[in-house]
Amino acid sequence: MLKGRHLIEPGDFSLEELDRLFFLAGKIEDDGRYLRESCRGKLLATLFFEPSTRTRLSFEAAMLRLGGSCLGFAEPGSSSAAKGESLSDTIRTVSCYADAIVMRNPKEGAALLASRVSLVPVINAGDGGHHHPTQTLTDLLTIRRRRGELGNLTIGFCGDLKFGRTVHSLAKALSRYSGIREVFISPPELTVPGYITKGVLEKEKIPYSEAEKLEDVIKDLDVLYMTRVQKERFFNEEDYIRLKDFYVLTKDKMKNAKKDMIILHPLPRVNEIAVELDDDPRAVYFKQAQYGMYVRMALLASILGAVPC
Ligand code: CP
Repeated sequence: MLKGRHLIEPGDFSLEELDRLFFLAGKIEDDGRYLRESCRGKLLATLFFEPSTRTRLSFEAAMLRLGGSCLGFAEPGSSSAAKGESLSDTIRTVSCYADAIVMRNPKEGAALLASRVSLVPVINAGDGGHHHPTQTLTDLLTIRRRRGELGNLTIGFCGDLKFGRTVHSLAKALSRYSGIREVFISPPELTVPGYITKGVLEKEKIPYSEAEKLEDVIKDLDVLYMTRVQKERFFNEEDYIRLKDFYVLTKDKMKNAKKDMIILHPLPRVNEIAVELDDDPRAVYFKQAQYGMYVRMALLASILGAVPC
């Protein structure tokens, strides 16, 4: 049962629990009335210490669609964190007011710390370059709805694989399914961390490879997961400027891709996917953002006990 549980990293839920969440999210997509008003009287706190459009607003939209209410802040300058309050004290306090907390924080491990002091479930909405598990739920649901299954596919992760927490979370989550191959496409400065390749993939015996040129591998992919270069995690601007346009996916580059390959991107996009591709039926990143709201509705209804899951 997910009622009362925290979600800090993708492995916190079993495959069966994930399956039930995806089933619920599919029902919500198919029937706009399903679970409506099921969280009436419940309060969700959204505490964002870093900027966000999709994660914060899709959580708030999800809670409002379930009949609940939201409170919180979109930047820490308007909270007592600006006066030096510790994260632990903020979370202890907010957990006296709300029934669940969604938090984004620039520090790796902040969500785990929050879960240890909170009186209510904590959902990690991104902790530094570490994990972003509800983006992973979104990505898995998108792949499942578009391809019919989560196993038996070759996925290419392209861009900033060093700092891209959505990549780390999804690469790890997919390693639990059979028939997965992972291809990591990045410049040498932004390769995927060893704790994913050696710590997860090699341990789980998931075949993987690394490449620098997208053109060399695009023809093999069933899913292409594009990411932006994470400007906010760079220590110097020169490196960011040198690397920011390393990959730009264009119509021309897509000529060698499979006809049924899907392009995912957690968004925001900067330059890495040309706008000319938005009408390509394989470009599903805006639909992916919509799936994010459905799966967050399923998640909130489950952890708040509005539906057995
Ligand atoms: N995908 C994602 O986390 O987007 P936001 O930063 O806009 O929330």
